Amino acid sequence: MNLTEFNSLFHSLLEAEHDTPTILREGRLLLTELLGRREWFAEHINRLLTDRALLAEQKPSLWPNEITLHRHPDGSFQMLAYIWEPGSMDTIHDHGAWGIIGAYLNKIRERKYRRLDDGTVEGYAELEESADRILMPREISVVRPLDDGIHQMENITDTVAVTINVYGRTVRKGYSQYFYPEKKAVQRVYPPRTYKEVLLLRSLGTIREPWAEEILANASRNSMPDYIRRECDLALSAVNNGREAPIRQEPPL
Ligand SMILES: [Fe+2]
Repeated sequence: MNLTEFNSLFHSLLEAEHDTPTILREGRLLLTELLGRREWFAEHINRLLTDRALLAEQKPSLWPNEITLHRHPDGSFQMLAYIWEPGSMDTIHDHGAWGIIGAYLNKIRERKYRRLDDGTVEGYAELEESADRILMPREISVVRPLDDGIHQMENITDTVAVTINVYGRTVRKGYSQYFYPEKKAVQRVYPPRTYKEVLLLRSLGTIREPWAEEILANASRNSMPDYIRRECDLALSAVNNGREAPIRQEPPL
């Protein structure tokens, strides 16, 4: 099996309108098969490293260690490789879609978390670790969207690891959430381009001067995605209440 064959088989699986458990069950079988092959990966990274224009098409994302392998034009799924340098780990996070994650080169540690609170308190989250396992090459883990897929990956070895991740259609667009269990905190995090806009809004929210409020009020009259609207509203209410809105976002890695 090569990447093109996998993508075609995976798309057919999604087209068959199975329920999500069936897609995840069948999908993991397909991915396991692909993870047993090296040729497609070698071919793909060779193309990326010999064609700078192709490499430049890689979209900046929240995850700097992410390589896009395939994005289906109809948005039904995407396939990504994550490159984990020795000792690297990501921040505990959720996903806007279901995902099938396979260890490809080297093993990788995954911790899963259960959310205990109901998510109604802004910025507050209580987590409990529900699993801690090592995925050996060709082993697979599955995540579900939002609170049902909170996890963290870590390369505990001194060799680079690669995982191959397949994600379905997003049910929540525009951002992910980072969790900090020791502080019982959760924060929305945005991909680089969105983050610039969010940072401007959050900064204005800390400036208690009429011009800042005027810019925010102006901005809020534009049409914008709901997650940007929320940031705008938070900044406006921070200005109105004379409170300072948080402006800091942790770097992704
Ligand atoms: Fe993840």
